[in-house]
Amino acid sequence: MSTSPLIDIDEIIERYPGKPEFLIFLLQDIQAAYNYISREALELVCDHTGVPFSTAYATATFYQSFSLKPKGEHNLRVCLGTACHLKGAPRIVEDLERRLGIKAGETTDDLQFTLETVNCLGACALAPVMVADEEYVPGATSKKVEKLVKDLAAS
Ligand code: FES
Repeated sequence: MSTSPLIDIDEIIERYPGKPEFLIFLLQDIQAAYNYISREALELVCDHTGVPFSTAYATATFYQSFSLKPKGEHNLRVCLGTACHLKGAPRIVEDLERRLGIKAGETTDDLQFTLETVNCLGACALAPVMVADEEYVPGATSKKVEKLVKDLAAS
């Protein structure tokens, strides 16, 4: 997995002085190490920096790059913007939901996959488009998606 549970949370906390201005750096490092920010981690960050929990929580939920729920090793994002929608993207989402046994916005129990929908990936000419981890998949079809999930699961 890309997460790195071997990194101790205290080790991350100690990287920065206990001041409010280091909140974002701490959240970024925790997100990078664990692929999400647990409530316990957020509380430790608050204890260390003196930032109120409500402020830290608001910050962590404001930025899309932070997640307060565990995410899968592989992140699948399907575009549901207008161009992709018209070219069958909802069907791709349904296929993935059925194949993975989760709904969009959820993560599989084995933490292998997270499925998300987005509004436009800026590649409308290639609709329907999805992104698997960092890789764009243009002209997504049920067949392509099936193979993609199989390949990622085996990797
Ligand atoms: S609408 Fe899907 S990439 Fe723009």
